[in-house]
Amino acid sequence: ALYSVLAVVAAYLIGSVSFAVVVSKAMGLADPRSYGSKNPGATNVLRTGNRKAALFTLLGDALKGVAAVLIAKALADRLGFGDGTIALVALAAFVGHLFPVFHGFKGGKGVATAAGVLIALHPLLGLGTLLTWILIAWFFRYSSLAALVSAVFAPLWYMFLFRPDPIAAAVVLMSLLLVWRHSANIQNLLAGKESRIGEKKGQAG
Ligand code: G3P
Repeated sequence: ALYSVLAVVAAYLIGSVSFAVVVSKAMGLADPRSYGSKNPGATNVLRTGNRKAALFTLLGDALKGVAAVLIAKALADRLGFGDGTIALVALAAFVGHLFPVFHGFKGGKGVATAAGVLIALHPLLGLGTLLTWILIAWFFRYSSLAALVSAVFAPLWYMFLFRPDPIAAAVVLMSLLLVWRHSANIQNLLAGKESRIGEKKGQAG
């Protein structure tokens, strides 16, 4: 049990590294919490027009989710981690991104990190959810809408592919938290004010 607690704490710390903030600083860009949606995430970093910075943010935030889960899985046999620990590790990495201890607990909305976590938990589930995001983003050009639809579909894909287990509960919880973090986006979408991918906030659209 001690190792499980340590794994969950480590996952939270990994998740707490906000790549939007780190990458922006490293590349000499403004702090993403100061412009656009004020969200430290790849979508908002893209509003600077710097695609490379947005891509690095996306990859960093996704890979920290992948890393947390894969490390826990690799140690599972040796340290006696069951599905419950793996589920909590996944959730902890995601929660770290939302409430990062390194950034005054003001984190992002969790889309990239959720994607990374899902791919590492179950590649098929991750791929299905990723495809959902790409499809909606391609047709509607709203990053937030793609994330919201994907958050609805991830638990559905899970139920379709696997049996209910602790990991399913973690996926449902992540989806609920993700939708909650998008409340401002939902309001903007309903009001027709949401900015499309790559567009500056408040620009026509
Ligand atoms: O990655 C979060 C995305 O779904 C919305 O980001 O900056 O448009 O609020 P943003």
